[in-house]
Amino acid sequence: MEIVIVRDAAEAGRVAALKIASVVERKPEAVLGLATGSSPTGIYASLAARVQAGELDFSRASGFALDEYVGIPLEHPESYASVIRRDVVEPLGMDPDRVRVPDGRADDIEAAAVEYDEAIAAAGGIDIQILGIGANGHIGFNEPTSSFASRTRIKTLAPQTRADNARFFDDPSQVPTHCMTQGLGTILDAHEVVLVAVGSSKASAVAGMVEGPLSAMCPGSALQLHQHATIVVDEEAAALLTLADYYRYTYANKPAWQRFEH
Ligand code: GLP
Repeated sequence: MEIVIVRDAAEAGRVAALKIASVVERKPEAVLGLATGSSPTGIYASLAARVQAGELDFSRASGFALDEYVGIPLEHPESYASVIRRDVVEPLGMDPDRVRVPDGRADDIEAAAVEYDEAIAAAGGIDIQILGIGANGHIGFNEPTSSFASRTRIKTLAPQTRADNARFFDDPSQVPTHCMTQGLGTILDAHEVVLVAVGSSKASAVAGMVEGPLSAMCPGSALQLHQHATIVVDEEAAALLTLADYYRYTYANKPAWQRFEH
């Protein structure tokens, strides 16, 4: 894993956006793995500004969302289909026909989940997967004890996750209890992963993910098995990392050919 410690959330979004931009510049028809939540908003804002400036073009890229709630209508403003359209597809100028979100409303949810993984594979796999991490270490909606081999499937949301996401709903009771999420195995198949975590509420999950043992109790620790994962954290989210100074030193001494900052 490459750990990049930055000043604040805005800087985290800017730095992580450089990773996405370099993939799309190299391969305009790249397949992006799209995350929702607060963590990636800085990435999308930074990319959208570059699209507006005419520096980046996502019109040929395609996307697969990480997850979706089960049990809320498509047109609900907090369905991830709505969020992805509003926060990603429109500001980045992506083609809506090339962006898929797991179908949490399918009659046969298990078949829809299998088909989702097949569609990712048929697209050639995800070139770069954007991720956040939950306070309990979840990535996507893979809650603690999710199998490292899991594929896209229906999951039950942990009470903490429902409480954390209640801020997006009028009433906590409206937060769905179930979701469909890419599995940890699905996420590990992505060619590259970039995860953003900011704020002190993420410090313990970040420490577990980066330095903790490989454990299904911290689903993010599965990323230790990924060969190309970049973790961008602000100072608060990095607060419990034992080797923080080493990560700073490593980043400061990256050879020019390896740098992704312009
Ligand atoms: C959400 C999403 C995840 C996200 C995580 C953290 O519920 N399903 O993809 O990474 O929880 O959310 P946030 O970035 O808002 O803190």
